[in-house]
Amino acid sequence: MQDKVAFVGFYESNQISPVSQDIIDLNKHFQRRESLFRSLGLLPSFIAGKSVLEFGPGSGHNALYMASLKPGRYELVDGNPKGVQETRSRLSAYSDSQVEVHQSLFEEFQTDAQFDLVWAEGCLPHQSEPLPLLDHISLFVARGGGICGLHSQRNLLPF
Ligand SMILES: C[S@@+](CC[C@H](N)C(=O)[O-])C[C@H]1O[C@@H](n2cnc3c(N)ncnc32)[C@H](O)[C@@H]1O
Repeated sequence: MQDKVAFVGFYESNQISPVSQDIIDLNKHFQRRESLFRSLGLLPSFIAGKSVLEFGPGSGHNALYMASLKPGRYELVDGNPKGVQETRSRLSAYSDSQVEVHQSLFEEFQTDAQFDLVWAEGCLPHQSEPLPLLDHISLFVARGGGICGLHSQRNLLPF
């Protein structure tokens, strides 16, 4: 299965993560993220206490902002072991009961839980079968919740 999935098999066999960002100035990073959220119509303060499921956090640079908004529950799913390890380490300041990083292919991820917000940034458009994947991750949206899929911070495709 792993070799058939876009990107993940390559990252795993080369022990790399495809994402890196300069976030030394964390305030600036958070300002950029806040402006992204606002442009999507998401008020950052509305995340507090809500449940969030994120697909494809990469190495967790952007996840740091989501975690800082204090969702009541924040689960993340990525198939790349190195990315998972780096995301766990980046989010280690947040308590285990609040944050959980799953190593899983998106296609194989299962949970009985549903989430107020399902977030997928920069990880759907280049899939070989993006629409079935979108259907799969939509299953985890709670009634009254929403899904947000973005191509990248510069090219937003919210749905
Ligand atoms: C380009 S990175 C995006 C990282 C981050 N969301 C960002 O915007 O900086 C895409 C991530 O999705 C993961 N990914 C892509 N397809 C996947 C799949 N089918 N199953 C599990 N993880 C996948 C990759 O391992 C990678 O970490």
